[in-house]
Amino acid sequence: MSDSPYQDDHGNKDATITNAAGMGTMTPAHPQSGPTHKVAGDSPFLIGDTMTGGYGKGPDILHECTIAVNPGEIAVIVGPNGAGKSTAMKAVFGMLNVRQGSVRLDGEDITNLSPQDRVIKGMGFVPQTNNIFTSMTVEENLEMGAFIRTDDFSDTMEQVYSLFPILKEKRHQAAGELSGGQRQQVAVGRALMTQPKVLMLDEPTAGVSPIVMDELFDRIIEVSRTGLPILMVEQNAKQALEIADRGYVLVQGRNAYSGTGKELLADPEVRKSFLGG
Ligand SMILES: Nc1ncnc2c1ncn2[C@@H]1O[C@H](COP(=O)(O)OP(=O)(O)O)[C@@H](O)[C@H]1O
Ligand SMILES: [Mg+2]
Repeated sequence: MSDSPYQDDHGNKDATITNAAGMGTMTPAHPQSGPTHKVAGDSPFLIGDTMTGGYGKGPDILHECTIAVNPGEIAVIVGPNGAGKSTAMKAVFGMLNVRQGSVRLDGEDITNLSPQDRVIKGMGFVPQTNNIFTSMTVEENLEMGAFIRTDDFSDTMEQVYSLFPILKEKRHQAAGELSGGQRQQVAVGRALMTQPKVLMLDEPTAGVSPIVMDELFDRIIEVSRTGLPILMVEQNAKQALEIADRGYVLVQGRNAYSGTGKELLADPEVRKSFLGG
């Protein structure tokens, strides 16, 4: 095996290469020396728990909304436009007033922490829009991503480049000159530079072709297999649920359906209303 945690087979479902404790970092998990397997489902690594809240003094957008990701898993949030998916992600990241409910990271209540402090605690967030610095080079974007680090982050940058080789090729180009799919790679790479313990992605495949979408999903699976829990919003509901350990369907700021990815894909109501039959 090579030094890079991202060189394993794409979409490898072999749980032995994941970090069952959900403390994924950019460093590969070592199953032999790692903690014993933890049963998923009993304790989420990150949870926005029965969140109610909205923007500023505006009306509530979220109504007792719960989204969570377990150690080592991929959780996917789907639902119609305007359902509050991005709002729920922003609430978990601390960009919103959560009037009721709480946010917990690895068992710790972080409801009152600023987004900056959540990054320091180990959260990586890629927002839906404005997620890169377009006038900066690719490499400068990655450097900006490492802003909280005082140690040498060159290894992490190499890991990002081995995950997204095109970024290495284009590292001296302005990020704004890249294609949509490549910009999303910059955004994900930027978030990985802090060596997060959990990664939140809001529509990482927005506006890209089906081929590029498949590529990005493969990369996301690859990152996940290093043990990093991933909580993501996806417009491509069917494809996303296929790679999801857990899925949430949000409608009008509420949980409409939740279950394993498989369960939701098999649910006739979910299929009819949200997956095009
Ligand atoms: N910054 C904001 N200020 C006020 N309302 C907002 C803001 N962003 C989104 N909204 C409102 O919140 C609701 C949910 O939006 P959003 O979370 O973006 O939905 P989704 O991501 O599911 O498409 C919408 O009614 C939208 O108009
Ligand atoms: Mg959105």
